[in-house]
Formats: sequence, structure tokens, C-alpha cells
Amino acid sequence: MLSEVANMDEYSMKVSHPEFTHTRTFNKELGLIFASRKELWVEMRRFTERTLRHFGFGKSNTMQSVIEAETTDLVKEFNETIKNHGGIMKIRTKFVLSLLNTLWCMVAGQRYPHDDPTLIKLMDRNFEMTKSRSFIDPFHFLLPKRIKDMFPSISKEDVRLRVYKECHDFTKILIDERKTEGMYNNSPLNYIDAFLQKIEENKGNNKSVYTEENLQAMLADLLQTGTTTTNGTMNYGVLFLTLNPKIQEKCQKEIDSVVSRHLSPTLEDIEKMPYFQACILETHRQGNVVPNPIPRFAPTDWNIKG
Ligand code: HEM
Repeated sequence: MLSEVANMDEYSMKVSHPEFTHTRTFNKELGLIFASRKELWVEMRRFTERTLRHFGFGKSNTMQSVIEAETTDLVKEFNETIKNHGGIMKIRTKFVLSLLNTLWCMVAGQRYPHDDPTLIKLMDRNFEMTKSRSFIDPFHFLLPKRIKDMFPSISKEDVRLRVYKECHDFTKILIDERKTEGMYNNSPLNYIDAFLQKIEENKGNNKSVYTEENLQAMLADLLQTGTTTTNGTMNYGVLFLTLNPKIQEKCQKEIDSVVSRHLSPTLEDIEKMPYFQACILETHRQGNVVPNPIPRFAPTDWNIKG
């Protein structure tokens, strides 16, 4: 019953905290992860789920080739780095560009080389921001703005705002590119196109949540939620497997029993790997990369099941 309640919008509105949330998005409430207005939150969540799925998110026939290309490059890079650094490799953000690419081909129709300097810098900054203080740190909500303004380097407010500025600069270029290309009008090719089409459809409606600033906010949200969480989970996975060589051996044995060594595993193959699946779930449980989700509240009293 608890999970049913947690998934019902009317019981789980997000707490508004303009000092924290609006400063990242042009001093307005925008985007999805911190949306406390129901019209904004529900609309953005539905649109984003529907649109990403439409462009292939979660579908094995679309994602298989992207994931395969990324893992092939990653394995090659890992082998080279390990060879050139005496058997040592710092994991840190090694997975992040691959993870971004699997998402970004549906969001922006882009795949970035793993040595792209702009993306490496942006992802590194993002990593520093989440490391310096989780972006959903509950204590941050309790700190008065005056104190945060007085000690920006302690509160890391300066880091956060700089990262968001860089992120918005990056997404503005992507949006302008898609606008110049002009496909959004007739046949949208990705999330940005679909959003631009919605902006066009809602022109003249000043209550519309489809604005270019909101598109930038959404891209920032997707960039952060889609990469920091998955990168953290992958890092924990590597750590746990390193600390538990017997479990690592059992996973390898199971993978070998399903996929021949000269083939790449497919998304369907994982269905035949219950032990490996259990290890992934255990990684989520123990890694717990989002220990403090965004605070929620029930706006009114409700009667549940009598
Ligand atoms: C291991 C991977 C991931 C983990 C552990 C994770 C975890 C979470 C958690 C705990 C929340 C907060 C839920 C809440 O407040 O009730 C969340 C929200 C969210 N995540 Fe993820 N996530 C992951 C991957 C992703 C990916 C790949 C995307 C991008 C498509 C994504 C997009 C989002 C969005 C947009 C929200 C806000 C949803 C809303 O407010 O309705 N996440 N995630």
C-alpha cells in the first residue's frame, strides 16, 4: 500500500524551495525534478516519459545498437588505459560519456566521442558538484539564503550555479542547432525537436509550460538525473565486484553460460541471468546513489482504503 500511495500524485507533491530550485533555472520554477506545481510536474513527466519512449528509450531494438557501440568503445579504452598505466585505472567518470550517449541519442540525436573536451569538462564539473554536496541534500533546504550568500564556498552555492550556467550554455547550442535544422516542424527526430514542436503549437498561450527556458531546464534535469545516478551505480558495481572476487567469478560463469565470448550480450540475454540480475539489484540496494530523494508532502488530508 505504501508504494501505491507514493506513486499517486495527490499524496506526493514536491516541496517548493525557490531559493534552491529557481536559482538554477532562470529564477523561475522550471523543469521536472524540483517541480512543485502539479501542472508543471505532471505535464513534464508525462511528456518526457512518452517522448523518450517514442524515440526508443527502454526498447531493446533501439537501445541495443547504441549500447553495443558504447560498450565496444569502453572496453577498448579500458584495455588501453590499463595497459598504459601499469595496470591501474581511475574509474571516477569513466562510464559517464557512454551513459550520456545512450540517453542523448534520443534527447538530441547526438553521440559524442569519449574524448570530447567540452563534454568531459561538463561531466567532471557535474561530478564535482554532486560530490561536493548531493544536489538533493536535505540540509541545503534548511540553510537560510543569507548564510549561503555569506559563505558561498562552504555552501558550494557558487559551484552549483556555475555548473548550471555551463549546462545551460551547452544546451542552448543544441537547441539552436535543432532550430536551424528545422525538422521539428514536420517530423521531430528527438526529444528537443518534439519539445520545440510543442513550443510552436502553444505559441500565444502565456500559461504554457512549453517554453525554451523550460526546455533548457528539462535538458539540465535529464543530463543530471540520467548520468550522475547511473555513473554512481556503475562505480559501485565495479567496487563491489572488486571487493568480492568470488561473486565476480560466479557472474562471469553465468554470463559465459549464456553468451559466447566472441559475441556481445543482448538485452534479451540478461533475462537468462538471474544471478547477475540479483547482483545488479544488490548494487542498487547497497550503493543507494540517491539516499535523500526530493522531499514530498500530501497537500490535503486523504482517506486511503477507508
Ligand atoms: C541507476 C540509475 C538511476 C537511479 C538509481 C535513479 C534514481 C532516482 C530516484 C531515487 C529518483 C527520485 C524519485 C522520487 O523523488 O520519488 C529519480 C527521479 C528521476 N529520475 Fe532517476 N534514477 C536513475 C536513472 C535515471 C535515468 C537514466 C534517467 C533519465 C532518463 C532518470 C530520470 C529521472 C527523472 C526525470 C526523475 C524525476 C522524476 C519525477 O520527479 O517525477 N533517472 N531517479
